[in-house]
Amino acid sequence: MSDSLTKKTPIDACVVQNKLQQSGLEKVGLASIRELVRLVNEIEKETGEKYIRMEMGVPGLPPAQVGIEGEISALRSGVASKYPMIEGVDILKKEISRFIKSFMNIEVDEKNCIPTVGSMQGAFASFMVSCRRDAKKDTTLFIDPGFPVQKMQHNVLGLKYDSFDVYNYRGDKLKAKLESYLEKGNISTILYSNPNNPSWICFTEKELEIIGELATKYDVIIMEDLAYFAMDFRKDLSKPGVAPYQASVANYTDNYILLISSSKAFSYAGQRIGMMAISNGLFNRKFPDLKRFFKTDGFGYSMIYGAIYSLSSGTSHSAQYGLAAMLKAANDGDFNFVESVKEYGERAKIMKKLFVDNGFDIVYNMDEDQPLADGFYFTFSYPGMNGVELLEELLYYGISAISLATTGSERIEGLRACVSQIQRSQLKDLEERLKFFNEHHS
Ligand SMILES: Cc1ncc(COP(=O)(O)O)c(C=O)c1O
Repeated sequence: MSDSLTKKTPIDACVVQNKLQQSGLEKVGLASIRELVRLVNEIEKETGEKYIRMEMGVPGLPPAQVGIEGEISALRSGVASKYPMIEGVDILKKEISRFIKSFMNIEVDEKNCIPTVGSMQGAFASFMVSCRRDAKKDTTLFIDPGFPVQKMQHNVLGLKYDSFDVYNYRGDKLKAKLESYLEKGNISTILYSNPNNPSWICFTEKELEIIGELATKYDVIIMEDLAYFAMDFRKDLSKPGVAPYQASVANYTDNYILLISSSKAFSYAGQRIGMMAISNGLFNRKFPDLKRFFKTDGFGYSMIYGAIYSLSSGTSHSAQYGLAAMLKAANDGDFNFVESVKEYGERAKIMKKLFVDNGFDIVYNMDEDQPLADGFYFTFSYPGMNGVELLEELLYYGISAISLATTGSERIEGLRACVSQIQRSQLKDLEERLKFFNEHHS
């Protein structure tokens, strides 16, 4: 029986206990995000109490208006009845290429910039091509912790993967660790997100250089998942054409695919549109083994007319115009998309302090010698408890999060908190609940 049943907790302990039992989950601490969402919804409904909901990474800000206007006017002009070109509409391809130049200082031809149905589809399509281009290289390496759905995509596709938690291999140590996998010769692709979901670590230039050089040396493709583009708020990445830029492996190798999501940076998750950019060199390369699955051996051609065609025949027509309008405004310097999401960093700063002041620790806390940025996620633990226990116990205190154990992290004491849904008006409640928790457990 949970301790919480013998103490008065902010949420009625009997209700929590009953809902946990009814959920049928063997261990709520290992539940998927969507399962937790359902469970917390039910407890909230029965108790009438509002949780501090930190389990799901949904944008908590309104969508960029310029995108909505762009999309509405495209719909009015009749695009809904027409199939979009699979490789994307010209105006969007042009703005994606400009965006990458403006905010990353990287050149990718318009031809090689492709809209996808969210970065989720971009990753799926990339795995279909990148991981099957060489029969001898049949395994993906995930630099974890990571986004569990990409491993699910591997399972669905019948692809192999390996992974390691980067926590103990930051800086120079990353090289030997990566080479220990790459030397085996079976790695086709390396994937990581930067900033990282769930830990919010950001690779340093040194680390990106190591990854890029090894990618070239071992002819491995780097899938750089930029779902949280320009959200390392320690630097001002908001000015088009002005340094500093979004850090990227693209500065150190030609073997890359960039996946840029519009979900968080533009608060546009609902429209399911993202961007894939394949390096100019890689797009034009030929891999004979691709012919096992696709009509041609061309990498870029297989991606568009093999993978993306077979998945969805392109990306929603109106959403392409919406995204093009947002990118154009950002590229022209008329819309500061970074400013509009900075709120996440400010919230994280306050919330991290509340956790630390009440006996919690921040799990992933450094980028080599620099304190971690404040952003969309942070990770925390409580002394003497593992993450699975902590997650369950926090439910009695009206706080929900997910366990790092589900993300490939070795820091199983940790939980991931997503700040996006927490309103400033709830911070007082959070503070009180954390205080209660600490009093009951310290
Ligand atoms: C690391 C990472 N990659 C990809 C995605 C999916 O992005 P999209 O909404 O563009 O499909 C997410 C969404 O949470 C994410 O955190």
